[in-house]
Amino acid sequence: MASELTFIMVKPDGVQRGLTGEIISRFERRGFKLVNLKMVHASKEHIEKHYEDLAGKPFYPGLVKYMSSGPVVAMCWAGKDVVKQGRILLGATNPLASSPGTIRGDYAIDVGRNICHGSDAVESAKKELELWFGQEAAGIQYERAIDQWV
Ligand code: TYD
Repeated sequence: MASELTFIMVKPDGVQRGLTGEIISRFERRGFKLVNLKMVHASKEHIEKHYEDLAGKPFYPGLVKYMSSGPVVAMCWAGKDVVKQGRILLGATNPLASSPGTIRGDYAIDVGRNICHGSDAVESAKKELELWFGQEAAGIQYERAIDQWV
């Protein structure tokens, strides 16, 4: 099965609202496989690195403050076309534009508090997985997990 990995994160508001289980459940029910997970209260510097492509945007300082305000749940998911499909499960960036049935479309109304993050391309997924889990963790165990169910 052609497969890939993506980085999905429950943001601080998603964690605080008790939506972590719901988000995991939606990915599991769809058929994707959870490969790695950790809860972490990220530093401002770590978030700045994660969102470095957005530095200079007017919302960037507020985004960094919000994302470093409390613990997030960082995850690696595997499965066929999981990068693109993960974005579809999340819904549009602005929850007011997200379709009902998506995570953001069902649980959020504010772009600055949109519950979850998902990599937007295979390349950014690789970069984000290395940032959050380290190069070592992006190695053998992941490759094994991609191609076989337990
Ligand atoms: P972006 O990478 O454009 O969207 P996505 O998370 O869907 O990949 O933006 C990153 C985050 O920045 C986004 O999830 C929420 C926040 N953001 C704002 O607060 N205001 C905005 O106008 C935009 C575009 C994003």
